[in-house]
Amino acid sequence: MRTAIIGVGVIGNVHREVLLEQKKNVVALCDVNVEKTKAFSDIPVYTDYREMIEKERPDVVHICTPHYLHADMVVYALERDIHVLCEKPLCIKTEDIARILEAEEKSKAQLGVCFQNRYKYCNTYVKEYLAGKEVKGAIGFVPWKRDADYYHSAAWRGTWSQEGGGVLINQAIHTLDLLQWMLGMPDFITASWSNLVLKEAIEVEDTITLAASGNSRFTLFATNGLGVSFSTEIKIKTDKDVIRVCDNKVEINGENVYIEHNTKYHGKPCYGNGHGDLIADFYECIETGRKFPIDGKEAAKAVQLVLAAYASNGEAVKI
Ligand SMILES: NC(=O)c1ccc[n+]([C@@H]2O[C@H](COP(=O)([O-])OP(=O)(O)OC[C@H]3O[C@@H](n4cnc5c(N)ncnc54)[C@H](O)[C@@H]3O)[C@@H](O)[C@H]2O)c1
Repeated sequence: MRTAIIGVGVIGNVHREVLLEQKKNVVALCDVNVEKTKAFSDIPVYTDYREMIEKERPDVVHICTPHYLHADMVVYALERDIHVLCEKPLCIKTEDIARILEAEEKSKAQLGVCFQNRYKYCNTYVKEYLAGKEVKGAIGFVPWKRDADYYHSAAWRGTWSQEGGGVLINQAIHTLDLLQWMLGMPDFITASWSNLVLKEAIEVEDTITLAASGNSRFTLFATNGLGVSFSTEIKIKTDKDVIRVCDNKVEINGENVYIEHNTKYHGKPCYGNGHGDLIADFYECIETGRKFPIDGKEAAKAVQLVLAAYASNGEAVKI
């Protein structure tokens, strides 16, 4: 299996590290910024992903580029029956969802999207624990710090046209995806967002409150405007239990019921420890023909919720 990575910035290097650890055959890298590929003298490097795909004919590509590029790159590879593992979010526009799903449907290859927290054992524990139980309410918190230096580290960050939004589409999309994965897709999203702290650095929101209602009900509060980052947290109430997931622990009614000992991180600790397991599962799916669980349709759900939140302006938006 010949693999290529498109975009070797922060997360592209995490994918490369995992792939090398898992002894996958990385045959080429692509980045428009030649500075990013200079260190890799042992492997062909390209600045144009189309040229790389035509010349190297990889079986799999990992798309680790800015958000606005995902849709074109995913479709290009799927149309050539090349398996795609794309970083989140799948895309940033409603119209892109349809063309990606169409390309996925027609392709002989698989599309997978990197919501690695679905592979974190604490989260799979809670998902399984909730099976058959009635959820009364739930909330997710993403209380983080992302400062002006972070946003100035790449031109696409903090822009509507290229990042597609702020804290929700980039950082909190993981927690939003977990909430809908654990509790189900809601029918409506009502959201209110603002830029409270980072006005001089970004045009997008740094803070958002989102309420999901209908078939599934939860609230999400997320900010990038704190002076320090705190841990992400999810709390869920059922008839009998208050479940809390935070860091590497699950608590039920105040008791630790599950402690995760797999704390091998790739990249920043806030990415969690799921990248290794997700990437291994994606390759196993390709090799065995099993369908990868986070396919285009599954990953599009979080994008739909994000876009509804941005369209909301305090009013309920139907999903
Ligand atoms: N799953 C996670 O936890 C996680 C964590 C961080 C980032 N991400 C996602 O990974 C993606 C990249 O984020 P990042 O932080 O690595 O950004 P980054 O800016 O560090 O890296 C992006 C790279 O893509 C390159 N690039 C831009 N246009 C290109 C093109 N046309 N062809 C080839 N390369 C191109 C840039 O030069 C840069 O090196 C985003 O979708 C982001 O949301 C996911």
